[in-house]
Amino acid sequence: MPIFWRDQMSIQNDLLDQDHRYLFCLVNSIELSLKHADLAATVLVFKQLMDYSVLHFTREEKVQIKIKYPAKDLHRGRHEEIIKSLSRFHTELGFYERRREEGLFFTEAEDAMGERLLKLLHDWIVEHVLTEDRKMEPLLKQFPKSFQ
Ligand SMILES: [Fe+2]
Repeated sequence: MPIFWRDQMSIQNDLLDQDHRYLFCLVNSIELSLKHADLAATVLVFKQLMDYSVLHFTREEKVQIKIKYPAKDLHRGRHEEIIKSLSRFHTELGFYERRREEGLFFTEAEDAMGERLLKLLHDWIVEHVLTEDRKMEPLLKQFPKSFQ
């Protein structure tokens, strides 16, 4: 199921909200590419998602330092875990991509991998952006929305 942004998902910071919206878009694009069994598109968008996550986490962590967010260390640890999981998937996707270049298809294994990938991305969006990141909202509310 695609994820659609709603105003209630805002954490009252324009920069981070914008990043979250864009990450949702990338997750939706990955879901669509998996539905169409377009592995090349999955790999391409996944790489974008990984790169953008690194950029976003760095931004978010900088904001947390500036606003003196009490749980910033715990939060950074969670970001590191997410990046590790994404890197593992990146390696796995590369494996299937190389096999396809050699003319080998593992349809069932690829489907299972796609399901695991979607689960990881959705768990991360639901768990992290909508639950963990939301905890910053009471503190972020005390700053202008344009705070960076
Ligand atoms: Fe976060």
